[in-house]
Amino acid sequence: MCNILPPRRGRKGKGRGRPVTGGVLFSVRNVSKTFPGAAAPALSHVNLDIREGECLLIAGSNGSGKTLLMRIIAGLLEPGEGEVLFRGLPPDRQGGAIRRETGLIFQDADAQIVGETVEEDAAFGPANLGMSKAEIRERVDSALAAFGLEEKRLSPPRRLSGGEKRRLAAAGILAMGCSTVIMDEPFANLDWPGVVQTLETIRGLRDAGKTVIILTHELEKTLALAGRLVILHRGLIRDDGEPAAVLDRLDAAWGVRDPRRNYAEVKDCSWL
Ligand SMILES: Nc1ncnc2c1ncn2[C@@H]1O[C@H](COP(=O)(O)OP(=O)(O)OP(=O)(O)O)[C@@H](O)[C@H]1O
Ligand SMILES: [Mg+2]
Repeated sequence: MCNILPPRRGRKGKGRGRPVTGGVLFSVRNVSKTFPGAAAPALSHVNLDIREGECLLIAGSNGSGKTLLMRIIAGLLEPGEGEVLFRGLPPDRQGGAIRRETGLIFQDADAQIVGETVEEDAAFGPANLGMSKAEIRERVDSALAAFGLEEKRLSPPRRLSGGEKRRLAAAGILAMGCSTVIMDEPFANLDWPGVVQTLETIRGLRDAGKTVIILTHELEKTLALAGRLVILHRGLIRDDGEPAAVLDRLDAAWGVRDPRRNYAEVKDCSWL
């Protein structure tokens, strides 16, 4: 398991599009999922290799299968067909490694609160992993400091703002030493200061060497942070590659808007 704020591995340079040279962490192999009574599969023959240290955006319209794919990658849901290898190992040889090493930040930040105070909440994950009290304390202290939550450590998490709640979830993941963070719609219900805080949270996780997977339909906020963009539409991967190149090839039918296209005037938004 990695330590809090481990040194960057396999990286050359900072910023958007930087090369990632880490090994393959998750290998999604031919994953499909069909729910009973559904006319079409919710996920269909998805293949995706996610490398260590990568900052990956998975974009798609509502119902395209993003959350479902996240739950399957994180080991919360069995695929109907196919499998997810972790560090090259098939599910029966992973020994729960995916659950230990993958932290999730859900769309609904409130659903993740488990502690009465901020510090108790951040300590929950490390305590579940069986760490000693001294180690938990050290990790929680570092993680709360990393996300600027030291002054709130005795506050009830429910009183935090939306952006702070996501920072708290990120601090808990950092304290656990997870190698991967998956964020589902990290900007849902946030005002602009909350968006900025969340972007800083993502940058902090990325710069701490984490593999970061962001599921969103709001590309404009995260594009600058990501080195790769995957488009999901009706359960199928439609494109996968360097963000600018994927946007150049975007099909309007996929329901993802190219954030580089600005509305020139307010009247252009009149259809809203
Ligand atoms: N437990 C379930 N039972 C039946 N259908 C489901 C279940 N979970 C997901 N689905 C279906 O799978 C499809 C993909 O859902 P998913 O939640 O992954 O979409 P999404 O891309 O995350 O959408 P959003 O942007 O709205 O969050 C949807 O059609 C949804 O109705
Ligand atoms: Mg979703």
